[in-house]
Amino acid sequence: LTPQDLAGLMVLVTAGPTREPLDPVRYLTNRSSGKMGYALARAAAQRGARVVLVSGPTGLTPPPEVQLVPVETAQEMYEQVLQYGSGAAVVIKAAAVADYRPLQLSDQKIKKKDTQLTVQLTQNPDILAELGRRKAQGQILVGFAAETCNLQKNALDKLHRKNLDLLVANDVTLPGAGFDGDTNQVRIFGSQGQEESLPLMNKHKVAHGILDRVSRLYHSRVGG
Ligand code: PMT
Repeated sequence: LTPQDLAGLMVLVTAGPTREPLDPVRYLTNRSSGKMGYALARAAAQRGARVVLVSGPTGLTPPPEVQLVPVETAQEMYEQVLQYGSGAAVVIKAAAVADYRPLQLSDQKIKKKDTQLTVQLTQNPDILAELGRRKAQGQILVGFAAETCNLQKNALDKLHRKNLDLLVANDVTLPGAGFDGDTNQVRIFGSQGQEESLPLMNKHKVAHGILDRVSRLYHSRVGG
């Protein structure tokens, strides 16, 4: 039987990639399938939470009992996450948000002309960093880090810079970890220096492993 240790809590999860349009038919994106975020949303709902899932475009069916808020661009995700995030006890940011978007959005399809084409990019807002700045007393903020090198250093840097309570790092160069597949292998870092490595497992089990940590942290704070 799944524990109801998140009963009554509002949990906001983000999932999937963002799409950053170049013209009416093209966009920049990444390899996120949404599976990790959807597994987290499903697992949190199973544990009794009221779940809002802000998701970029994926081919996945939203889990039952979860409120889906579909978005496309990083800017749209920023707006929805800030709107729903203020009332959430827990925010988990599994989405792979584009750091940059094309500076100019062409309203016509870009024509093939020269042998080279340069696209200028401009930075998107960092949603997690903004959540960290606005974090309410007691709110638990969980970030992800998709790393290809220096995992621990980059993870700890994100944890502290963005004012997070937990950081879930995946080394996306490991077989079976990270983008698109049904499994993941993560290391979870806490803000007091605690670290826990979970074995390679399907994303649903990884999601419950992450929520075990979230739940322990929440209950240690409220004394329950
Ligand atoms: O979707 P799947 O195919 O199942 O793959 C899962 C996953 C690999 C996408 C997932 O496990 C994961 O690692 N998600 C985070 C990917 C990522 O973008 O990492 P990052 O290191 O670039 O970003 C760090 C954190 O900041 C993330 O929590 C991200 O949501 C957040 N961020 C990043 C940029 C930005 N502009 N705003 C943000 O909030």
